Amino acid sequence: MKRKLLSTVLSVAMVATMLVGCGSKATTDAPAADATATTEAAATTDDAAAATETPAAGGGKIGVAMPTKDLQRWNQDGTNMEAQLKEAGYEVDLQYASNDVQTQVSQIENMINNGDQLLVVASIDGSSLGDVMAQAKEAGIPVIAYDRLIMNSDAVSYYATFDNYMVGTKQGEYIVKALDLDNAAGPFNMEIFTGDPGDNNANFFYGGAMDVLQKYIDEGKLVVKSGQVDFATVATANWDTATAQSRMDNILASYYADGSKLDVVLCSNDSTALGVENSLEASYTGDWPVITGQDCDIANTKNMIAGKQSMSIFKDTRELATQVVSMVDAIMKGGEAPVNDTETYDNGAGVVPSFLCEPVFADKDNYKELLIDSGYYTEDDLK
Ligand code: BGC
Repeated sequence: MKRKLLSTVLSVAMVATMLVGCGSKATTDAPAADATATTEAAATTDDAAAATETPAAGGGKIGVAMPTKDLQRWNQDGTNMEAQLKEAGYEVDLQYASNDVQTQVSQIENMINNGDQLLVVASIDGSSLGDVMAQAKEAGIPVIAYDRLIMNSDAVSYYATFDNYMVGTKQGEYIVKALDLDNAAGPFNMEIFTGDPGDNNANFFYGGAMDVLQKYIDEGKLVVKSGQVDFATVATANWDTATAQSRMDNILASYYADGSKLDVVLCSNDSTALGVENSLEASYTGDWPVITGQDCDIANTKNMIAGKQSMSIFKDTRELATQVVSMVDAIMKGGEAPVNDTETYDNGAGVVPSFLCEPVFADKDNYKELLIDSGYYTEDDLK
């Protein structure tokens, strides 16, 4: 029921996203639909707009709160944000919180107390920042939720992310194609790994993939042998590789030790996929299953090249940073930030006007073009 609703609401958003990709295009030659979106956005962000009425002369100090250095992508996000903000003339206060919610709260409090003029926050647990967000609002400091939505707070001016639902549908559609689910007899055995329950994105990844795959589960063509299907059961705290690995170890020992074939593992991202791959390497002797992922982390890209991961989703963090810097710039100059979605991301206190960048399918056939030719990685990074 909940998923169906998500799917209905999100299909509208997907159309909106298809109209406008990530990058400067939306800001420079926005279609009519976008103009409406921006106006609507203004209506939902009165308070935030009020907080941004004073333009900063000659830059200003921007607080950037990142969740952890332990997962590869946030290092890239932080580095890109810092470099691009500096290039745009801002002073940057970049903090990583070791995936510890209290540390992140303290870091944001310090940013507020130290005179940061705008906050960009990639939350650890989107539901645990309510109080500190209220402090930011009280101090008139606008907040941009970065990649992950901050929940139940009216202090969030904007949200910039990749189209999280589309990430999930791309993973689900890949599985349909890879196993030829519409033609093959099956049944195929599948296991499911998603992300941290405190990360709103995880619901969208899981929801997008399950909206594609549920019908094959219902038909009995996909069989989740462990019976572990619902979001709470397949969630992985902190998106932690070791946690995913030990859950996969248990599943293999309990359900596949009899020689049953594991055909596919739906993994919402690369850190969970890596845990699954490590576990399979240690204790699975059957044919290697189809495995999905997201982020094109270096370890996983190497595994794609080696045939141990079937696909990933490339989310160019440079593009997201560019988008967020243009949002920062617009807000700091007293204007409204560019958005292309004003429907999808309700954080419990209202819909947060968002900019969704487009996630890109990646596998061993196109990784060179996506990752190396674009300068994201060097050949040496992937050796
Ligand atoms: C991001 C993913 C990432 C995951 C773990 C999510 O919020 O959107 O790209 O894989 O966090 O870091």
